[in-house]
Amino acid sequence: MNKITIAIDGFSSTGKSTVAKQLAKYLGYVYVDSGAMYRAVTYYAMKNGLISKDDFNVEALIYQLDNINITFKFNEKLGFAEVYLNNENIERSIRTLEVSSFVSKVAAISEVRQKLVEQQQKMGQDKGVVMDGRDIGTVVFKDAELKLYMIASAEKRAVRRFDELIERGDQVLYEDVLKNVQERDHIDSTREDSPLVKAADAIEIDNSDMTLDEQFDKILRLAKMTIEDCE
Ligand code: CDP
Repeated sequence: MNKITIAIDGFSSTGKSTVAKQLAKYLGYVYVDSGAMYRAVTYYAMKNGLISKDDFNVEALIYQLDNINITFKFNEKLGFAEVYLNNENIERSIRTLEVSSFVSKVAAISEVRQKLVEQQQKMGQDKGVVMDGRDIGTVVFKDAELKLYMIASAEKRAVRRFDELIERGDQVLYEDVLKNVQERDHIDSTREDSPLVKAADAIEIDNSDMTLDEQFDKILRLAKMTIEDCE
């Protein structure tokens, strides 16, 4: 069977990574969470005192980009690949609201994007990949056979993210999560380099009122049709 490239873009907490993981597992494809890579760079900047609430030393981060080595290692138990920064497993540490509060500023830097996009394109060069993010269908894999653009209302998305954070045991307020979702929506869609926009050939999926099963069924059908068309 021909392997295709599946690009899934959309705002924060639109269920991209959930469906991307399900699809990759079902099809035997590799799943790449491109957002985890931007989060990893942000985590590095935080750990090295380059970014805080009042200050962001962009020059220093750009200068230190070569010191940042991001890798993924498949975790059999979890069923997906976890992200590592310079060989340290940071999968859990990058999902905090604090990292979320800085990540869009880091992701707006062209030098950061250039480094990560290059790595993402290498990871997908043999096809058979499902990658989710903000610019996958528009920049990273412009020729992806299947492009999805996921949307849902900001309130629904904030509730989903709030539930995830509470489930992990993080102490967060719903208002702060909603504010973060809205702030990132704004920065991600208005930045100069690779803003989040729907690719002309992407299929829009509004999952505000879909269950996870309904969403997976719909998207799997699209994937199977696309794979058949490519035979
Ligand atoms: O999981 P969530 O939807 O909250 O976000 P994510 O996929 O982990 O991405 C975190 C942030 O990284 C986004 O808000 C974007 O600022 C940035 N990002 C990006 O610029 N380009 C991508 N391809 C993926 C993420």
